Amino acid sequence: MNMMPRVAVVTGSHKGLGYAIARQLAQKEDIQVVLTSRKEQEGLAAQQRLSGESIPVDYHPLDVTSDISVQQFTTWLQQTYGRADILVNNAGINPTMQPEESSLLTVQMETMLATFATNVLAVARMTQALLPLMQAQHYGRIVNVSTEMASLMLMGSDDYPLAPSYRLSKVGLNGLTAILAKELQGTNILVNAYSPGWVKTDMGGSNAPFTVDEGAETAMYLATLPDDGAQGKFFAEMRKLGGVIALPW
Ligand SMILES: NC(=O)c1ccc[n+]([C@@H]2O[C@H](COP(=O)([O-])OP(=O)(O)OC[C@H]3O[C@@H](n4cnc5c(N)ncnc54)[C@H](OP(=O)(O)O)[C@@H]3O)[C@@H](O)[C@H]2O)c1
Repeated sequence: MNMMPRVAVVTGSHKGLGYAIARQLAQKEDIQVVLTSRKEQEGLAAQQRLSGESIPVDYHPLDVTSDISVQQFTTWLQQTYGRADILVNNAGINPTMQPEESSLLTVQMETMLATFATNVLAVARMTQALLPLMQAQHYGRIVNVSTEMASLMLMGSDDYPLAPSYRLSKVGLNGLTAILAKELQGTNILVNAYSPGWVKTDMGGSNAPFTVDEGAETAMYLATLPDDGAQGKFFAEMRKLGGVIALPW
């Protein structure tokens, strides 16, 4: 029996939803969390805050849009733990508040590229980096933090801003999830996407109805799926819908 704790990497986890996911995962006895942030001081401060609650986590710098940073992180992870069991791709940006983001006709290509670089390409980069460590152990859980606003079924809904850069990037993230799931079929590496709901964070703002802990619930579920758990699905925020509900892509 393998007694080593599972190693969980959460991107962008010095604050917001990522912090809550890291905190909840770290409270599980058999999981060693690596809290990551591109801002070293804020990452170390987050680690200290958790340590103050007697929740130990490791910290390492990680900018998911940088090849060098991801390479350095992966080398460190390999040397320190020799494994990666859980990857939560949480880091994301959302330029929706910029006025030109209110229409596809005005959206700036530069903004769109930057949003795709963080919300889609960086997830591909992290996946390419950590998947070999998962494959070596025949175990992996990858959780991609998406949004219900990326559901193609909901593109015509009046409930959401048009937000083309953000929504299209998360459509891309969902597509990545589906392609990767196809490639991982028959392995014990499970990849799924989920929507945390509208959550109170710097991104979500103070009017959001959900706390970060509520938004982290589905991530916890997907990060700890059993071997026969879901593969390549897109899930809703559990609390809002009262259980594990798959969303239409
Ligand atoms: N809040 C909501 O209502 C909501 C709803 C649906 C989906 N989501 C998704 O949930 C995830 C977390 O968002 P949040 O609400 O917690 O927002 P947040 O408080 O703004 O947190 C975003 C996190 O991503 C990090 N990040 C951005 N670019 C990065 C990079 N290049 N490298 C490493 N980290 C990077 C940020 O770090 P810095 O401080 O360094 O920028 C921050 O830690 C995002 O993927 C978002 O799209 C949120």
